Amino acid sequence: MKGKRILLVIGGGIAAYKVLELIRRLREQDASVCPVMTKAAREFVTLLSVAALSDSRVFDNLFSLTDETEIGHIELSRAADLVVVAPATADLLAKLAHGLADDLASTLLLATDKKILVAPAMNVRMWENPATRRNVASLRHDGVLFVGPEVGDMACGEYGAGRMSEPAAILAAIEDALRGDTRIALPGQPLAGRRVIVTSGPTREPIDPLRYLGNASSGKQGHAIAAAAARAGAEVVLVSGPVALPDPAGVVTHHVTTAAEMLAAVEAALPADLFVAAAAVADWRGAEVAPQKLKKGAQAPVLRLVKNPDILARVAQSPARPRLVVGFAAETENLIDNARAKLAAKGCDVIVANDAGEAVGQDENQVTIATRGGTETWPRMRKDHVALKLVAYLGKLMEADRAQ
Ligand code: C5P
Repeated sequence: MKGKRILLVIGGGIAAYKVLELIRRLREQDASVCPVMTKAAREFVTLLSVAALSDSRVFDNLFSLTDETEIGHIELSRAADLVVVAPATADLLAKLAHGLADDLASTLLLATDKKILVAPAMNVRMWENPATRRNVASLRHDGVLFVGPEVGDMACGEYGAGRMSEPAAILAAIEDALRGDTRIALPGQPLAGRRVIVTSGPTREPIDPLRYLGNASSGKQGHAIAAAAARAGAEVVLVSGPVALPDPAGVVTHHVTTAAEMLAAVEAALPADLFVAAAAVADWRGAEVAPQKLKKGAQAPVLRLVKNPDILARVAQSPARPRLVVGFAAETENLIDNARAKLAAKGCDVIVANDAGEAVGQDENQVTIATRGGTETWPRMRKDHVALKLVAYLGKLMEADRAQ
């Protein structure tokens, strides 16, 4: 990041305090930071603390004659390598989506010819409000990059999506954006304006407070699909079982443990245009969960199991069925026949079949795509490349569907 110039627009939200840390980290990496504060931002952090950490003066006023003669606002917006908005409040996103320019921050955003990366931060109801949803969809369509928001406790006491990403995640997204790494192998934005739900990882079904039934799914493929869908312009909700992976940039991630929790989170995230069920959901759970740790006795305990809900089939058959429903099939034999049978059995449109033994936990995957029209087998490649190819493929299917 040495020598890269970041124009940092600081919005007015409680998360503004995290931006001080972001500036510090950017400076540590020898990036140069030019901060612009909105009027509201100055209610949350002081000009003095922002100035003390930055290597530039802080800009906060559109109509300063001296600024305009020394460096006009147009120049300010173009001299940067990347424009970052953090926290990106609902108000700033709305202004950006509609092209309003009534203060320095919004004017710079309208005048820039550089990529814009936003880190939204707001109350969960504001994030979920249809007006914000529309603004986010248009911004993604325009090629604005997103990092977060994250799901968690909010300063206002509520819980949900809307927390600004941590400085480390924003820093990683800035590095990606500067590398131009945001649209690898993706011509255009094939999922622009779409809402996508992805499940990923294993589920864990408790037996007692310490033990559970689980499986070896790493979540790599599902997480890569969520990340690729976000890069393809979609608004993505990822519902993930327990994995050791970071939340993908630009994706709202819900963390769950059991299949029942995964189903509830997916249903809460509907409606959507596309559902990709990449999770390895446990087929069974314990009929009862022992309240205390099961003791070692002379006799081995007998586990009674009951069937878990089939999330994919439920979504495919629900009244709020997304236009395109995609399932995975991890098979160890008769890959293609089993994949085609699963299409019908689950009521989905596409099955991505892979060899269970070879794919689980690995960084590479070889998949066969089965639809009612036929099957095609793709060469073995990295899981993030499978994800990008799949997203481009699904984007085309949805386009063709719309054209009919
Ligand atoms: O039936 P099978 O487990 O092979 O189907 C795999 C597909 O179904 C995957 O897409 C998986 O995410 C989904 N699935 C599900 N809920 C279950 C079991 C499987 O969504 N309980």
